[in-house]
Amino acid sequence: MKRTLITSALPYANGYIHLGHCAGAYLTADIYARYLRLKGEEVMYVCGSDEHGVAITIAAEKEKVTPKDIIDKYHYANKEAFDKFGMSFDIYSRTSNPDHAADALEFFRDFLQKGLLVEKEEAQFYDPKAQMFLPDRYVEGICPNCGADHARGDQCDACGAYYDQLNLKEPKSLVTGDTPIVKKTTHWYMQFNKFQEFLENYIEQNAGTWKDNVLQQSRSWLKQGFSERAITRDLSWGISIGDVPEIPKEKSAGKALYVWFEAVLGYITATKEIIRQLHKEGKAELGDWEKWWKGDGARYIAFIGKDNIVFHTLIFPAMLHARNDGYNVPENVPANEFLNLEGEKFSKSRNWSIELKEFENDFPQENMISALRYTLAMNFPETKDADFTWKDFQARNNNELSAIFGNFINRSLQFLIKNFDGKVPELTGEYANFVSDVKEYYKSLNSGSKCEAPASLNSNDVELLAAVNSGIAKISANYDKFRFRDAITETMNIARAANKYFNDEEPWKVIKTSCEACAKSVYLCMQTAKALAVLFAPIVPMTSKAIFNFLNMPQAATGESTLRLDVRPDYWNNAFDFALESGTPINTPELLFSRIEQETIDAQVAKLGEKNSQHAAEIPQDELIEFADFEKIKLRTAKVITAEKIKKSKKLLKLCVELSGENDRRTIVAGISEHYAPEDLIGKIVVIVANLKPAKLMGTESFGMVLAASDGNGNLSVLSPISDKIQGGAEVR
Ligand code: 2FM
Ligand code: ZN
Repeated sequence: MKRTLITSALPYANGYIHLGHCAGAYLTADIYARYLRLKGEEVMYVCGSDEHGVAITIAAEKEKVTPKDIIDKYHYANKEAFDKFGMSFDIYSRTSNPDHAADALEFFRDFLQKGLLVEKEEAQFYDPKAQMFLPDRYVEGICPNCGADHARGDQCDACGAYYDQLNLKEPKSLVTGDTPIVKKTTHWYMQFNKFQEFLENYIEQNAGTWKDNVLQQSRSWLKQGFSERAITRDLSWGISIGDVPEIPKEKSAGKALYVWFEAVLGYITATKEIIRQLHKEGKAELGDWEKWWKGDGARYIAFIGKDNIVFHTLIFPAMLHARNDGYNVPENVPANEFLNLEGEKFSKSRNWSIELKEFENDFPQENMISALRYTLAMNFPETKDADFTWKDFQARNNNELSAIFGNFINRSLQFLIKNFDGKVPELTGEYANFVSDVKEYYKSLNSGSKCEAPASLNSNDVELLAAVNSGIAKISANYDKFRFRDAITETMNIARAANKYFNDEEPWKVIKTSCEACAKSVYLCMQTAKALAVLFAPIVPMTSKAIFNFLNMPQAATGESTLRLDVRPDYWNNAFDFALESGTPINTPELLFSRIEQETIDAQVAKLGEKNSQHAAEIPQDELIEFADFEKIKLRTAKVITAEKIKKSKKLLKLCVELSGENDRRTIVAGISEHYAPEDLIGKIVVIVANLKPAKLMGTESFGMVLAASDGNGNLSVLSPISDKIQGGAEVR
């Protein structure tokens, strides 16, 4: 079995990941990685932030900070959001790491030495006021093709045309608003035309397995002829070629590698980085980075969104091939189309978006993350653009995850807890041989040599076993072809079959007449629950983990990273292996999914498109605290009984406040004397920090702090509850 290298497009660290991104290149890859790991295959799943190029400098200018501030802010925010979303990256790296620059320059120099790069002086727009050449995204004008306004430097969003920026009509610099002049500049052009034949063969060899959209775009580019392309830019924020020894300094000064040239190489640098880490951890036996990138033992799958297709099917493969050093090109590039939101394109400027961070902030519960993963996966834009709607999210959660999958797990486990002393039942009497019969029969289904079902199995048993057996085969076949929606539909179908089994067996009735027969049904339900935990793991790993816990199976097989493991069992094909032994105690299950009410959905829909919405997602990462931190602070209301100025102090008042009754009084010193006369405060209910360590202020010991709001313009107001009903001693939460 070949080991599999999986990459997801490195997202630009210039904004927060939104649900559209997740459905494009990330959740797909995570599901696939988990599926392969569960099968016991060797997997390396690599991703990270794309941190160079004009996208970053534009974001920095907008936010009035440095590019470094931008990449730090978004790298850590996205990494954390991915983590909470359950992404099982083996590494989430960043292209600003110095090691990456060294790797990218090695490729550049190798191509220089091989004569694959030509140096050319070409005319480009230059903004004399800003003293800079204008990269494509810094210039706007009228589209030479359709006449649309606000066309970008190299591409028109209205008609989709690609052109040379010099063809843009009425160009305007986005830096100063001035009309740019045309000036000559030197760049290095990669002769991609030399790889036309190689790429044509490569694409056609994969015609049987690649998705149509991927094939069509790649073919159409090749048909136009794959021309030379500049792989350097006049840019300060990027990997500088200023020290490349093959180029005289006066020519290379101020030039950096084109971001796409180096970003794709970030996948390789990240692989090297994790391998170095493993070696440091004493896992040298796990081998070299090259075993993932080179030779017959490895295959490479690149997950991306549709806007990245040609970079991964033509440009990157050409670069890998050009090294002539044994690199594997992608075996498949399963690009998704775009996900829309409530029927419209995601748009940050119109706030028509759901950032992953924002979702996690609103719904921190793991079952809501599971519901999101499931809903997105059921709506993956696999062959055409798809839509995420809150109503569908609610329906998927309530009618599928909760009503089918969660319901089966909950009712079968609860039934066992109530009727079988909380343990997987022993099979006795008429069913003494049931386990071996069932194993034998299931094996025959597996091998395709389906034999007559033994007499101990009734028609419901046979139906369930067939549904599980054929279901697993169908799920696997779909995952193998990157048909995620079908795979997941089949997974839910097994849960449906399990529910039907429970209904048809009617254990709640049977138990009144035959405990042995009832035990058999419950036994089979437990084995199916365990199988479902494995089969659902790629989609909802956190839910699977919870089921393994209920079932007392601590080695929860959820497809997490296996890089550090020496053994990788095939949990997937052994999902229905009857490993859950009779007598195993079962833990009381908690509800796996709770119903999502209409108000929750309405509130989310109402948020879309809201102007200037300032949600918590905008607070810098390092300023966020955990709920547990907040909980440490005990806030209480208190009634001011007496108040007096502290001698020799301009600011301090000494208050005696009462919390819950006369015996619960304390002294607090408050710095509010400039804003309140003592008599104004007497009888008022204020909010205090009740568990602050005592401190002495101007000789008076203070046992807490009075909370006040201050606007920075000299106004200050002590906090007080709006309602008269709240007296001293109430908790403030
Ligand atoms: O579209 C994007 O977000 C790019 N940053 C993707 C880069 S993929 C690869 F080159 F790293
Ligand atoms: Zn146009």
